[in-house]
Amino acid sequence: MAKGRHILRLAKHRNNGGEELPVCHVVSRVPSAEFRRTQNLAQWAEFQEQEKTLAGKVFAVLGDIHANIEALNVVLDDARKQGVTDFVCVGDVVGYNASPKECLEIVRGELNAHCVQGNHDYYISNLSMNLEDFSPHAAAAVKWTREQLNDDEMAYLANLPLKKPVMGFTLVHSTLDMPERWGYVFENDQATSSFAFQKTPICFHGHTHVPIVYELTDTGAKHRPAEDMTVRVGQRLFINVGSVGQPRDGDPRASYAIYVPATRELKFRRLEYDVAAAQERIKKAGLPERLWQRLEFGR
Ligand SMILES: [Fe+2]
Repeated sequence: MAKGRHILRLAKHRNNGGEELPVCHVVSRVPSAEFRRTQNLAQWAEFQEQEKTLAGKVFAVLGDIHANIEALNVVLDDARKQGVTDFVCVGDVVGYNASPKECLEIVRGELNAHCVQGNHDYYISNLSMNLEDFSPHAAAAVKWTREQLNDDEMAYLANLPLKKPVMGFTLVHSTLDMPERWGYVFENDQATSSFAFQKTPICFHGHTHVPIVYELTDTGAKHRPAEDMTVRVGQRLFINVGSVGQPRDGDPRASYAIYVPATRELKFRRLEYDVAAAQERIKKAGLPERLWQRLEFGR
């Protein structure tokens, strides 16, 4: 790693019930602005070479599907109408909602999507995971989901990579600096730390269930709203695509993004779906009340 400043940041880690765990200090090294400029130009040159082979490709970037088949089906219908040719996924295919098998089958089979592992994919497929620190409703969802999946489905989840480069961009669930820690990016400094390990101009992520865009500037990451944009050559972006199956930004509509490499267009999509039907499935599965209640509020 090149010369640069060190930053000491407070990392807020939360368990999968959304409860904050003890704050820990994390030291990250941020490369110098000059190193970033040189590295960025080289990565963009490589990216533009790859773009030539991606003519006609339209990517849908899905994340945090969380076993919500009603939301996933509406997203897929919309994506096809938008001309999407390829699907990728930033993790958490399962957990919380009541259609894990159906969602897994679509992601693995029909979509043949490049996918990274989310924390719920890991908790569910790792049977030695201690659930004592989990909130009761989160632990109940993990146990119930384990009972639904067969060995092959569990192995698929267990073997997903933590991060993955895909045709010019990168996928990760949480952050690139410590993907196995499942840290949440709520602050610019947390995004700055991830940028230090980003080897492509664009990286898509999820985990917070809140769509947002971080751009790397000479003074570190700056966030901006998740709005449609054309990516400029030279920009470095860490893009949260929001959640298909359990949005948490106060908007209950399913969220995903579309990226067109040839034109560098980025679009954020929000779609209404049959929330009542998804809630009914959760009730029938006997999962905790909190899990179906939150869907209608997007929290
Ligand atoms: Fe998630």
